[in-house]
Amino acid sequence: MQQMCAFWSSVALMSGRYHGSPMVKHLPLPIDAVHFDCWLALFETTAREICPPAAEAHFVERARRIAASLELGIAGGQGVLLGIGERFRRDEAGELR
Ligand code: HEM
Repeated sequence: MQQMCAFWSSVALMSGRYHGSPMVKHLPLPIDAVHFDCWLALFETTAREICPPAAEAHFVERARRIAASLELGIAGGQGVLLGIGERFRRDEAGELR
């Protein structure tokens, strides 16, 4: 939780509090576009509930950008090079399509 707070403080306020590498934590996870869409839907609902509109837009815009970059990194780690606007999808068994 401390890392998450430092991360969002750095992302939203450019406080420089976070010194880590989120990509490294996410690369080994068996996740794809479905999980990122789900994550973003939850994040966006929560941001709408608790933030004033300008802050909500600020957080959501950054969350979308970072989620897309994590998805791109995970795809790359699996040897899949995504084109612009392309999503990373595995099959039901978690294998690459
Ligand atoms: C389905 C999508 C995601 C899953 C399943 C996921 C899961 C995880 C897991 C398992 C960890 C490691 C926790 C630990 O060290 O105990 C983690 C860390 C973290 N995640 Fe995610 N995550 C997702 C999306 C995101 C997104 C979109 C962001 C940013 C916008 C994010 C930001 C972070 C950060 C900042 C950390 C801490 C990294 C550190 O320890 O330095 N995650 N996440």
